[in-house]
Amino acid sequence: MAKKVVGLLLALAMVAVMFVACTPAPAPAPEAPSQAAPASEAPSSEAPASEAPVAEGKLVGLTMPTKSLQRWNEDGAYVKAALEERGYKVDLQYADNKQEVQNSQIENQITMGADILVIASIDGGALGGVLEQAKAAGIPVIAYDRLLTNTDKCDYYATFDNYGVGKMQAEAMVSALGLDKGEKGPFNIEIFGGSPDDNNAHIIHQAHMDVIQPYLDSGALIITSGQIDMEQIGIQNWDSATAQKRMEDLLTAYYADKDVKAVLCSNDSTAHGVIAALKSAGYGKPDKPYPIVTGQDCDKINLGHIERGEQYMSIFKDTRILAQEIVKMVDAILSGKEPETNTTYDNKVIQVPTLGCKLQLVTKDNWKEVVIDSGYYKIEDIPLEETE
Ligand code: BGC
Repeated sequence: MAKKVVGLLLALAMVAVMFVACTPAPAPAPEAPSQAAPASEAPSSEAPASEAPVAEGKLVGLTMPTKSLQRWNEDGAYVKAALEERGYKVDLQYADNKQEVQNSQIENQITMGADILVIASIDGGALGGVLEQAKAAGIPVIAYDRLLTNTDKCDYYATFDNYGVGKMQAEAMVSALGLDKGEKGPFNIEIFGGSPDDNNAHIIHQAHMDVIQPYLDSGALIITSGQIDMEQIGIQNWDSATAQKRMEDLLTAYYADKDVKAVLCSNDSTAHGVIAALKSAGYGKPDKPYPIVTGQDCDKINLGHIERGEQYMSIFKDTRILAQEIVKMVDAILSGKEPETNTTYDNKVIQVPTLGCKLQLVTKDNWKEVVIDSGYYKIEDIPLEETE
């Protein structure tokens, strides 16, 4: 008994230290038995690992999935600027959400003599050949935000806590519905997944299910359509129009005589489409309020939704911090040192050493403080008034 208490106290103390000490938080993955590293291994927020002019004459091949979703424009710009500020040359490419396009961009970067590749993939399992080329040329590869799967050529991974994203979304929904305070429902809900070819989408879905399963079992939550598997709920490319169409179809098929009370969306672009469908179906009136809609990324358009009460929450992922962490990682790798990581992800072939950065919950109550006061956006960039 005494042993158990001491064990529990130790575990609690470790968790406390981890959350105080870590800049980035550990990120457990479902298919990926990743473990949180002890706090001592957590990355520090100090200056880059090496002060030597390691960057001189070095070329970083940086590839991003698409310009059509807001966050990648910021990620690309911040990472490029941070690397250039450090003295690296950077080749930044966007691939219009087509993996084959990205593969030839990476091939080009290898031919150009890139010293290291930083890749935010589209379909993380479909780079095969190009990663073999990188391996043959001895070029290190960092997966950026999205894991590269089914390969032994993914040397490091830098991301946000993807399981934490899904957990935060589902817990926010549960709490907004009052389920954690004894509300019994039943509440009719629907779930919108991310792109089925993106590993992150599966991690988020797993976290959603872990949080809501007890409420589905007790009957407090009902997925009215019964659609729960990734094949049914996944939104290819996280595309707003596809999400809007699915929500319209669900409202027509299942909600003629009832209201949907929550839509658990995996990110802001899918939430944006869902909100458009809800609006045209007459939600947003005093007798038909918007359901609880979740998201992540703090896209500018979604901050407008939050301000107007159309979306309940989003998650701020500070890509400026991820960019700084990438610089440290690149510095360390190119100086022959081990970069700092705080967890691992299983990519179905190897355990990839990973740096998981932390998240911040954003609602109507704190969004200005989090994204405006921190200098991430300017208030005039946020569409506070309805645009359509
Ligand atoms: C990212 C999310 C983003 C989504 C669509 C995911 O891989 O982790 O932040 O919303 O892609 O761009």
